[in-house]
Amino acid sequence: MSERPQTAGKKVFIETFGCQMNILDTELVRDKLAPLGYEFVPTPTNADVVLYNTCSVRDLSEQKVRSRLGQDRLRKESGQEVIVGVLGCMAERAGQELIKKYPHIDLLAGPSQLDQVPVLLENQLNEDHQSSFDRIALSGFKKRQKGQETDRLQEIEALDQERTGEINESRQAFVRITRGCNKFCSFCVVPMTRGPEVHRPAQSIVDEVKRLVDQGAREVTLLGQTINHYSHHEGGRTTSFADLLHQVHEATPDLPRLRFLTSYPRDFTEEALDVMASSERICNYLHIPAQSGSNDVLKRMNRGYTKEIYMDLIHRAREKMPDISIVGDMIVGFPNETEQDFVASLEMIREVQYKNIFVFKYSPRPGTVSGKRDADPIPQAEKKSRNARMLAVQQEISLEHHRGMIGETYDVLVEGIAKIDPNNRSASPAERHDGLFQIGNGARNLVSNHETVRLTARTRGDHIVAFDGPASLIGEIVPVTIHEAASLSLKGQLRQD
Ligand code: SAH
Ligand code: F3S
Repeated sequence: MSERPQTAGKKVFIETFGCQMNILDTELVRDKLAPLGYEFVPTPTNADVVLYNTCSVRDLSEQKVRSRLGQDRLRKESGQEVIVGVLGCMAERAGQELIKKYPHIDLLAGPSQLDQVPVLLENQLNEDHQSSFDRIALSGFKKRQKGQETDRLQEIEALDQERTGEINESRQAFVRITRGCNKFCSFCVVPMTRGPEVHRPAQSIVDEVKRLVDQGAREVTLLGQTINHYSHHEGGRTTSFADLLHQVHEATPDLPRLRFLTSYPRDFTEEALDVMASSERICNYLHIPAQSGSNDVLKRMNRGYTKEIYMDLIHRAREKMPDISIVGDMIVGFPNETEQDFVASLEMIREVQYKNIFVFKYSPRPGTVSGKRDADPIPQAEKKSRNARMLAVQQEISLEHHRGMIGETYDVLVEGIAKIDPNNRSASPAERHDGLFQIGNGARNLVSNHETVRLTARTRGDHIVAFDGPASLIGEIVPVTIHEAASLSLKGQLRQD
């Protein structure tokens, strides 16, 4: 029998690519590693373990990981002892190919197997691994090799339960309610990498949110790929998304803000909108991607709705919640998207009056319907140009909307110290904190609590607001009067009364 490895003091560097779901996954992996004595370092330079929690949504994210893996190979070749692991969607989608191309990868874990990372790491530190199963945990791989049907619900609870980490200083927490996606939009790799939709039991979600509130959370965001499709059956009863929202809201009277991400246009029930409208502490905020304003493109995307159905939902939501902030995702350059189709998307953006949108240049993904069915005929330069034109339209809308907020006072949750980063205007899912003011978590340690600094905060509608105040306000909800508007963010003054 081998001895237990020395995990204590081993330095781990984790880099996260992709969406909020991945950011949460990384947090949960850290929660599993911390009690074993691992330490976390901010750069890979002196790390004993380098982990990449990857995203496959677009080729660009995958390329970044490949380039990191290339650098790690050089470091290993020069004699540095480092364990390299690929986690998340790219491991699941292309793990076998990756291991062939980069044989220095020591471990792979798909998004549903992240709870196994501690064991996989121990195997590596022990160097007693006998077979590839000791270093590889992928849903597809396991099923094919062992004929095992894994219990998906157990998988999700294995990572999401027993969370040990502390609330971060901005006191925002994320809770997954569903995993996977059944929609199979023709461009999207998520149903392949994250597998079919599974819903957590309502009680387990309510308990987790309550625990987070007890630990001091001021804002909880529920997460799911198509979150409003949530439905859980137990003991002859079904809990719908509307029921769940209501239950969480009622169970946590001390939680000032409850949000959820990401909604699917076809799945919104009247009840869910009603619960949002009537629950004071549920933020009037909807992230509800349209992807295109052309019915022809929507059909080829297999989105399952038309522009009219989408607009009807927007109108119903606005009727019930006139001040609702609506955020969208749009894809430009989908195969055979004509200028007319593109203009239809621009018109839709104007009609919806989004608070902001994330624009993505179509990226063909292996294994998806459109990746197989369609060529990728629109040149990159044209995609770039449509991307810029679309952002310009949205900037006008956002600026006008922001200007309308000048002179008003809003309660904002202070997230951290603002760091001006004018280059960070891209709309990759990894950079959902877009805008001029990014959260500068590193700088927090350098300032005393009473020092006046430029702070960054968010309204209930997710508007980014910068203002000057003491660092001690981080994690607090305070009133700020807006006096200046830009397209991506606002400036204001702390109201003192
Ligand atoms: N419901 C998910 C969507 C995941 S993908 C969520 O939680 O955000 C996020 C966004 O990436 C999608 O809404 C879509 O706009 C974009 N996207 C997905 N696949 C893409 C592809 N192949 N090319 C370009 N953009 C893509
Ligand atoms: Fe992807 Fe469509 Fe699901 S965009 S995550 S397949 S809803």
